[in-house]
Amino acid sequence: MKILVIGKNGQLGRSIQKLISNFNHHKFTLTGREELDLSSSESISKYFDTYSHFDVIINCAAYTAVDRAEDEIDLANRINHLAVKKLAEFANLQNTKLIHISTDYVFDGKNESLYLESDNPNPINVYGKTKLLGEKTVLETMPNNALIIRTSWVYSEFGNNFVKTMLKLGYEKNEINVVSDQIGSPTYAIDLARAILHIISNDNFSKKSFPTEIFHFSNMGETSWSDFAKEIFKLSNLNCKVTPINTDQYPTTAVRPKNTTLSKEKITKQFRFQIPLWKQSLKECLNEIM
Ligand SMILES: NC(=O)c1ccc[n+]([C@@H]2O[C@H](COP(=O)([O-])OP(=O)(O)OC[C@H]3O[C@@H](n4cnc5c(N)ncnc54)[C@H](OP(=O)(O)O)[C@@H]3O)[C@@H](O)[C@H]2O)c1
Repeated sequence: MKILVIGKNGQLGRSIQKLISNFNHHKFTLTGREELDLSSSESISKYFDTYSHFDVIINCAAYTAVDRAEDEIDLANRINHLAVKKLAEFANLQNTKLIHISTDYVFDGKNESLYLESDNPNPINVYGKTKLLGEKTVLETMPNNALIIRTSWVYSEFGNNFVKTMLKLGYEKNEINVVSDQIGSPTYAIDLARAILHIISNDNFSKKSFPTEIFHFSNMGETSWSDFAKEIFKLSNLNCKVTPINTDQYPTTAVRPKNTTLSKEKITKQFRFQIPLWKQSLKECLNEIM
C-alpha cells in the first residue's frame, strides 16, 4: 500500500517512522509542515493535486498546545478541524482510507467510569472543541473508510512531553508539586504507532470498505499525574519527592477534564491485539531515553 503519514516530526509521526523499516512491503511517504501546511487550505490542495493515489492517510499532525489554543482559536480550528475536512474530502475523492487521531479531551471528565466510544463528548477547552469538530467532520464527510482513534497523555522519547519534563525536573530539584486530581491513562506513542501499523496491515482494513468509526487507544491501567511522576522517578532512580496538589493549586490557561480514562475494549476486540500496561511501556520508553 502507498501510505501517507502527515506530521512526521511529532511524537506519533516519529514513532511511526521508527517502526516502518519492519513494514517495507508498504511504501511510506512522510510529510511535515514544510511539505504540507495544515493551516493553509491552498497548501493542502496543492499537495494533493501534486501527489495522489495514496491507499491510506495517517494524520498524526495537530495543533496540540492546549493552553495556547485558548488564545489561538482560529489557528487551532484551522489545523484540527478545517484541515481535517479537506483531508477527508481528498481521501473520499481519491478512494483513500483515513486514520485520524483525536483526543480524550473531547470529554468533560465528569464520568466516574471508563469512557466508551459511544459516550457523549462535551469538551471544556478550545483544543478539545476543535478536535471534536475534526472528528465530526470526518464522520460527516467520510461515512466510510475512516478510523478516528482517540488517545490520551501521549509521551515518547521524541519531542517534549510529561516524561521528559519530569526527568529534567527530577535531575534539577529535590521536591516538586504535581497535580493528583486529574486521572487518565498515559500512552506510549510507540505503542500507538504499533497499533496503527497492525490495523492497516489487517485485510479487513486494507481490502474492504467499512463504516467510519471511533476507537479509543491508550495504555492499560489508569493513574494521576502525580503517581505518573512518582513512577518516572522510581524507574529512573531519581530521588525527587512528589507532593500531590489539587488542580486549583496549579492554575492553567485551559481547563483540563478530571477523569478521561478510556475503555480500550472495542479496539482490542475488533483488531485482536493486546495493549501493554502503562508502567511496562513507561519502562520501555525510559530505557530508550537513557
Ligand atoms: N500529546 C498528547 O498528550 C496527546 C493527547 C491526546 C491526543 N493527542 C493527539 O495525538 C496526535 C499526535 O499527537 P503528538 O503528541 O504526536 O503531537 P505533537 O508531538 O505535538 O506533534 C504534532 C505535529 O503536528 C504538526 N503540525 C502542527 N501544526 C501543523 C501545520 N500547520 N501543518 C502541518 N503540521 C503541523 C507539528 O509540526 P511541527 O513539528 O512542525 O511543529 C508536529 O509535528 C494528535 O492528533 C493529538 O491531538 C495527543
